[in-house]
Amino acid sequence: MKAVALTRFLIEAQRERGQLAPDLRLLIEIVARACKSISHAIGKGELGGVLGSAGSTNVQGEAQKKLDVLSNEIFLDANEWGGHLAALASEEMDDPHLIPHRYPKGNYLLVFDPLDGSSNIDVNVSVGTIFSVLRCPEGITEPNAEHFLQPGVKQVAAGYTVYGPSTLLILTLGDGVHQFTLDRELGSFVLTKRNLRIAEDTSEFAINMSNQRHWEPPVQRYIDELVAGKTGPRERDFNMRWVASMVADVHRIMTRGGIFMYPLDAKTRDKGGKLRLMYEANPMAMLVEQAGGAASTGRQRILDLAPAALHQRVPVILGSRNEVERVVSYHRSYD
Ligand code: AHG
Ligand code: MN
Ligand code: MN
Ligand code: MN
Repeated sequence: MKAVALTRFLIEAQRERGQLAPDLRLLIEIVARACKSISHAIGKGELGGVLGSAGSTNVQGEAQKKLDVLSNEIFLDANEWGGHLAALASEEMDDPHLIPHRYPKGNYLLVFDPLDGSSNIDVNVSVGTIFSVLRCPEGITEPNAEHFLQPGVKQVAAGYTVYGPSTLLILTLGDGVHQFTLDRELGSFVLTKRNLRIAEDTSEFAINMSNQRHWEPPVQRYIDELVAGKTGPRERDFNMRWVASMVADVHRIMTRGGIFMYPLDAKTRDKGGKLRLMYEANPMAMLVEQAGGAASTGRQRILDLAPAALHQRVPVILGSRNEVERVVSYHRSYD
């Protein structure tokens, strides 16, 4: 079978299924191109002088790595001039970035985590980029943060890239989840899996166990039951994996099932959780649901949340449907 490049996949989606507006196609192509540049920069590692700290802090109070800042700039440079966006917002910018007046404005809003898993950059472990596409409310030409505050069900597209042994792009346009692998010689993303599906059941979980003493009772109970293994109430052994890059942990679940949890705990309670709703939880929740999985805070479906702030944090429990539903039922029984 002939290789299908991302460009062809998108053109066919536009032509055959009438599913894709031309300006959304351009947007996805440009995001993919920006991710290619990030992949290239990451691949150079120490030789490119891109590792280490930038010496600055972002709006969340995190120390920025050079690659956090560089990846953010790559996204801005790539997306400003195409005429497909009204504004962009990211983890690394306090406020939305408007399209400069010299360029035409478009109908979409792009929200992104330019570099996910920054604590893993300097140790050469997989990192990624996460993005979410929303429509700009009608009649708004200078969008502000409020115009971005739409629930995840309103996303028109979402995706992530993993910069791992190979670079992958995982994309949904609201009609299944598809995987593309970067062909480094050709410089193009090639379709390698159509319609990814997450198994309903799993024996693998991902959580930062060092936070155990801070978790709420339903999460304590759930994880206790998993680690009890064969002789516990679940009557089978469970395996644990934690890369500490959300993209890599979610991608493992996309590939072979599992449950990913960054639950509410005593350490993050004041902030509402650890992961960010608009550019981490929402795009991942859309992808996971599109692949047949579930995504919840433990108390609510993530995609239904009405965001209150651009950098809002939320608890995240996602992956294999039956396990997510079990965790949700434990929350119900304690509340
Ligand atoms: P980011 O690097 O974009 O700030 O995101 C970090 C997140 C996420 O990728 C990961 O799931 C989590 O932080 C890791 O947290 P721990 O340090 O608690 O393992
Ligand atoms: Mn960060
Ligand atoms: Mn992140
Ligand atoms: Mn990040």
